[in-house]
Order: sequence, then structure tokens, then C-alpha cells
Amino acid sequence: MNDNNTMLEVKNLQKFFPIKSGFFGRVVGQVKAVDGVSFSIERGKTMGLVGESGCGKTTVGKTILRLNSKTGGEVYFNGKEIFGLGNAEMLKMRPHMQIIFQDPYSSLSPRLPVGEIIGEAVREHQIVPPNEFDDYVTRIMQACGLQEYHKDRYPHEFSGGQRQRICIARALALNPDFVVCDEPVSALDVSIQAQIINLLEDLQKEFNLAYLFISHDLSVVQHISDTVGVMYLGNLVEFANKDEIFSNPLHPYTKALFSAIPIPDPTVRRNRIILEGSIPSPANPPSGCKFHTRCTYAMERCKVEVPVQLDKGNGHMVACHLYDDNSGSEKQPETDEASFRAIGEQYDKANENKTESNPA
Ligand SMILES: Nc1ncnc2c1ncn2[C@@H]1O[C@H](COP(=O)(O)OP(=O)(O)O)[C@@H](O)[C@H]1O
Ligand code: SF4
Ligand SMILES: [Mg+2]
Repeated sequence: MNDNNTMLEVKNLQKFFPIKSGFFGRVVGQVKAVDGVSFSIERGKTMGLVGESGCGKTTVGKTILRLNSKTGGEVYFNGKEIFGLGNAEMLKMRPHMQIIFQDPYSSLSPRLPVGEIIGEAVREHQIVPPNEFDDYVTRIMQACGLQEYHKDRYPHEFSGGQRQRICIARALALNPDFVVCDEPVSALDVSIQAQIINLLEDLQKEFNLAYLFISHDLSVVQHISDTVGVMYLGNLVEFANKDEIFSNPLHPYTKALFSAIPIPDPTVRRNRIILEGSIPSPANPPSGCKFHTRCTYAMERCKVEVPVQLDKGNGHMVACHLYDDNSGSEKQPETDEASFRAIGEQYDKANENKTESNPA
């Protein structure tokens, strides 16, 4: 660990899923869902993680919590490599790292009353002494905007927004340092989304939580994040602090993605960049830079040389040959966004089904 403020450090993480075929389930290939991802998150801070559907965001979130096995790389949580921990140590670590999913309904047991859903793991991990248990669960529920009488109700009696509050309370009750929020508001009605985002922000301040906030909604990510990572086909192609990346995106993919963010001022027009072609399969990704099949700046070397992460100052990392010293490019990626073929609408369309309202 490089400093005390770093809570999570991910180094060259890989997670491949085997592709099996035939009666005997022979392994015929690998889905490289996460293919060498590195980043870190400071205590009490939020890292936003964006990228098209299927690029590996959820797999990153699950693997850093050791909900998946890993294929390669390391994950340090509070200085400890979590894949090196034995079962007993991992059990002790579990409460400190929690996850909230997109669909609050499917992650809640329909047969348990809410007090039990929130309290079950509190008891199991002995978060508080038995005589304080009831008060503790009540306090956590209230912090999440729920009432004490909700303890005896069942998940189906709640709206979508309240169900997400239950999920948040269940995670918070374990007194975590870190929560992976995987599209936590995407399934909620737009009017409810802001309430849940506000709740997450309030809880972060009060309990000094760090978040990995996964979302396809760039406006939400812009609002909530301190740092932002952009994924493409299993790789982190750009990482920087929020203001830096939104004002000065470097990677052609990030530029395309960010061109989809609506500008509130109707007199200002942004050149939307539509990416041509669909995202290639992570089972058979393009050679060299995986983005070369869709990038208007692609050079010959992009087809064969894998770009490495370059630090362009202040921790602004980008993996693109345009920023190598020997890029050989005559094009100026900073200036001619209009020369891209627009991608933003396609990105929106691909994610449209995720924002369909689910009345809260
Ligand atoms: N359990 C699994 N088994 C096989 N393939 C998986 C599994 N989970 C995810 N994948 C594949 O890994 C890739 C990344 O998926 P995911 O992490 O869910 O992406 P995202 O969250 O960005 O939409 C996809 O191609 C997906 O089909
Ligand atoms: S490395 Fe080449 S193909 Fe990849 S994003 Fe940069 S310019 Fe485009
Ligand atoms: Mg996902």
C-alpha cells in the first residue's frame, strides 16, 4: 500500500469466464470480462465506473469483493490482498466491503420481514452486542429513511425506491468502509433516483464510506464521483479525477461516450459522436488496441500494439497510442471531435432498457 488514505488498490486484475461446449462441457474459449484493470480508491471517496453494457463493470465490482474468483492480478483492501486471505480472515473482512445491486427486489428475500433482512448479517457478524441489536437496526433504518414499523413488513409491500433503501440499510448495518453500488438507481423511476443518490451521499459523509459507483448514466456519475474510470471491453482505457476527465477527456472512446451527455443550455450544441459498429465480443476481442475497430484515429500500429497506461499528469491515465511519444499521428484528437461519427445516441439506445421506469 502506498499510503494510509488508499482503501482499495486493484492491480492488473483479470477475470476470464470459460466458454464451455458440448456434452462434456469442454472449455473452448474464454470471455475476457476483465483483462488487466488497475485503479485505487481513497477512503471516503467515490470512483465512478462507466462504459457500455457488457464491458466488464459488474465483473470488476464483484471480483474486487471476492464474490468471483480471479484469473490474475491483486486486490488490496485496507492493505491486505483479499485473495490471499484464509476463510476465517475473509469472513472477518466481509462486513467491511458491501454491494448494492440494480434490482432491489431480486436481491431481497421475499419471505423475510425487513427487520430480519437488515439484521440477519448484523447478528451473524456480531456487529453489536445482543442487547443493542434492536436499537441498532432501528437507527440504521432511520438513517436510510425507513421507519421502525417497517421492520415487520415484507419486501413486496414496498415501492422500488424504498426497497433500494432496504438494500442500502442492509449494507450499511454491517458498518462497511466500502460499498460497490452497481447501477443502484437505474431501475428506479427518475423522480426517485435523486432521493437515493442524496441518501448515498449523506451516508457517505456520515460514515466516511468509499464507493465504486457503476452507472451508465454519465450525468449521475459526473454528479457523485471524485474520480472516474472508463472501461472498454475489459480494460480501463482512461482514469482521472472527475473535473479533469469531464473537461479534458483524452481517449477517443471517452470523448465519444461523453459527447452523449445532454447539455442543460438549449442554445449550446455538442457534437455527438456516434461510434460505428457494435461492441465486439470479449470472447474474441480485436488485436492491439481493442477499440481500433471503432476508432477514427486508428493507426496501423493500433491493430497490433496493445497501448499501455500513460500518466498524462495529476494521475490522469490514458491507454492510447495517440499519447505515446512515438504515436506517429498527425491528427489532433483534442480539436476535431466533429470528425468522429456520432456515438452518443447509440450508447443511449443500448442503455435505454435499463432506464425504463419501474414505478417506485
Ligand atoms: N458468470 C458469468 N459467466 C460467463 N460470462 C459472464 C459472467 N458474468 C459476466 N459474463 C460476461 O462478461 C462480460 C462482462 O459482463 P459484465 O461484467 O456484466 O458487464 P457490464 O456490467 O459492464 O454490463 C460480458 O460479456 C458477460 O456476458
Ligand atoms: S490506440 Fe489507436 S485505436 Fe486505440 S483509441 Fe488510441 S488511436 Fe484509437
Ligand atoms: Mg453490469
